[in-house]
Amino acid sequence: MTIILGLESSCDETAAAIVTHDRQILAHSLAGQEDHHRAFGGVVPEIAARAHVELMTPLIESALDKAKMQLSDIDAFAATAGPGLIGGVMVGLVSAKALAMAMDKPLIAVNHLEGHALSPRLCDENLDYPYLLLLVSGGHCQLLRVNGVGDYNRLATTIDDAAGEAFDKSAKILGLGFPGGPLLEKAAAMGDAHAVPLPRPLKGAKEPHFSFAGLKSAVVRAHESGQYAVNDIAASFQTAVTDCLEDRLEYSLSHMDTLSKLPLTKLVVAGGVAANGAVRAMLERVAAKWNMQTVIPPLWLCTDNAAMIAWAGQERFAAGLIDGLDVAARPRWPL
Ligand code: KG4
Ligand code: ZN
Repeated sequence: MTIILGLESSCDETAAAIVTHDRQILAHSLAGQEDHHRAFGGVVPEIAARAHVELMTPLIESALDKAKMQLSDIDAFAATAGPGLIGGVMVGLVSAKALAMAMDKPLIAVNHLEGHALSPRLCDENLDYPYLLLLVSGGHCQLLRVNGVGDYNRLATTIDDAAGEAFDKSAKILGLGFPGGPLLEKAAAMGDAHAVPLPRPLKGAKEPHFSFAGLKSAVVRAHESGQYAVNDIAASFQTAVTDCLEDRLEYSLSHMDTLSKLPLTKLVVAGGVAANGAVRAMLERVAAKWNMQTVIPPLWLCTDNAAMIAWAGQERFAAGLIDGLDVAARPRWPL
């Protein structure tokens, strides 16, 4: 049995989790920082880094308590080493380095995006490589062919904002508060999705990429016009994002022979926006149409957490991918 402690601190969630090589999540502890950032309407990097410093050690202790383990039971220490807000990334990475050094155990530096990309394999033991992955988070919107640990082909990416970023910015414009994505989804549930005419950026384009910046600007204009209720703008926005994701996904699926050599039978989704009900329903619809099986992790595993980092650590450890104590934190780190 290999037991890995994983740490996550790349944005505004501090988390520690203990995961075994055979997919048992022995503990996952997480502390959000919403209260620290709410007054500013977004994540403030300096405040986030300080909060990670305060929260990380108690969370590691809480994970060990929950798993009824001691540090000496851990076989390797994994942490997000980027991409993300660098001050926060350093807190988790340096903590893992200190533990690895003190316990004389291996260190595994995990790319946060790889954590999201491999997380569906933590909840589904039948999910084999390769698979098609839609990664939709606050910082990224990508369609990837996942061939194996450390082996990815990026088929499409956003040319401007990420999908989650569009949710967060639109929620802020509409005065819905922070964190934006879930609050906008709540408002949308009480609105009319046909009430506000909003654009579908890149819809019908002869390329696979995504774009959301124009949609956000249209939300500003609709709100400033004073003609529409906030819930109606929220509902129309959520439908527009979902339509865009569907159109771009449809383009890629109908050009799969040129984008990806082997047929892919599983449509896998990860990242915070996969927590959105309308997005999840659309994915089920698209997968059914293309005779694909969907793998959508539970909500808590879609948003940032440390279990996905511990699991990516397990996959890297099994592949012999260990890092030195001099490994650097990276604010930017494409997959
Ligand atoms: O993966 P994640 O937790 O962090 C990043 O690595 O970015 O994703 C966070 C993003 C945020 O933009 C958040 O607003 C969005 O996921 N999100 C949602 C929902 N829950 C989280 N967007 C739409 N609907 C939701 N229910
Ligand atoms: Zn993330």
